[in-house]
Amino acid sequence: MKIPPVKGTRDFYPPQMACRNWIIDGWKKVSQRNGFEEYDGPIFEHLQMYQIKSGQEIVEQLFSLQDRGGRDLAIRPEITPTLARMVNQQVNALPRPIKWFAVPRLCRAERPQKGRLREFFQWNIDIIGEDRADADAEIIFATLDYLRMVGLTATDIRAKISSRRLLAAVLTSIGIPAERLEPIYAVLDKKPKLPAETFEALLAEQVPDKGQAGKILDFMALDSVTAVAGIIESNEALGKAIDELCGVLGVLNAMGVGEYCGFDPGIVRGLAYYTGVVFEVHDIAGELRAICGGGRYDNLLRDFGGPAIAATGMGMGDCVLEILLGQRGLLDAQVPKRRLEYFVAVADPQFAEAMYEVTAQIRSKGHSANFSYKRGGLSKQLKEAVGQNTGRCVILGQEYRDARQVVVKDMAAGTQETVAVDQFLARLG
Ligand code: HAM
Repeated sequence: MKIPPVKGTRDFYPPQMACRNWIIDGWKKVSQRNGFEEYDGPIFEHLQMYQIKSGQEIVEQLFSLQDRGGRDLAIRPEITPTLARMVNQQVNALPRPIKWFAVPRLCRAERPQKGRLREFFQWNIDIIGEDRADADAEIIFATLDYLRMVGLTATDIRAKISSRRLLAAVLTSIGIPAERLEPIYAVLDKKPKLPAETFEALLAEQVPDKGQAGKILDFMALDSVTAVAGIIESNEALGKAIDELCGVLGVLNAMGVGEYCGFDPGIVRGLAYYTGVVFEVHDIAGELRAICGGGRYDNLLRDFGGPAIAATGMGMGDCVLEILLGQRGLLDAQVPKRRLEYFVAVADPQFAEAMYEVTAQIRSKGHSANFSYKRGGLSKQLKEAVGQNTGRCVILGQEYRDARQVVVKDMAAGTQETVAVDQFLARLG
């Protein structure tokens, strides 16, 4: 009986594994050069962790289980709650600001679709202990630093930036009470994914007053932060939120990534814990789901029983990223192909023992080497070497018997040299 793979999961054969490793290596490299340190947590947590503050959408998508002791657990759908728990546990011992990164494997029981699977990898960068706009800007900069490093340009992607604080100030200014904000955020977050009439009908359920709903639609159509002042009467909260957002955009300009960034009031984010600046990076063509998303979540550590410490961060999955890089031809050009440095071949089976010895020696010096398990002729062995994308073949034949020499053939150049085996091995370091 053949059992199929589970819906929404992926098998990583060596070529897919090479791609995954290349993506993750890039995430790690950029994290390090932006001053982040790596952490990780367990792959499952108490179910309650995700019921506290992640929001309804995530809770509906949990893979939950009960352990043998009857405890309700869930496989992590995100790592931010784990991060909040871990920081809270050692809060007084950790030097601030905390700049940490992780690349967890996550599971969400989403409806599998283009760019959204049930198991995926997600790069996370977070800065904890800093409430200034610099930290938000740094998160966005590091995100773009990676996307630029892998070859995406301002014609491919756009970082759309908004602010929950700004949205709250706008909604409160037009007379929406504070306790009504969260369900309205959930509706506004769906705007880009819905036809206009469906969205307006959903909004009307939350905001029956036509005047208020109209103001919200006006706000959602703005394309610059400063234009907010043109439609909403200014007040202190609004002014602060606008200044904060302008601050973030200013730092991003100074860091040289301004052309990638812009204000977009349509960015609200699905997770419930965001409190301030929020952002997502999208493909400019608008064909794909968000490449990544993040924002400020100043209350999460407090909601998890810790002190009130400011925090901001971002998560980027590997799925949409891989689709976009594939579309732009940036994977074939960059993902390293299988490569073997040396293939040790024998012109005659009598040299088999030397073949084992030389192979082991090459490997012990830190270089990759294979030999053929078949006892075929030399040309068959060389063909096998080509199939493994070998750099050099080391051939043991007549010269080895006569003078302990090997023929080293450069497979790309087609050139070869005859050299004493000890000298060849010595050269390897
Ligand atoms: P999120 O918006 O739920 O945020 O996910 C962030 C990114 O993870 C998405 O933009 C997408 O790239 C990827 N992603 C999410 N769900 C899936 C899926 N089912 N399949 C493939 N990729 C997916 C968070 O997870 C926040 N915890 C991010 C964060 C960190 N905010 C602050 N710090």
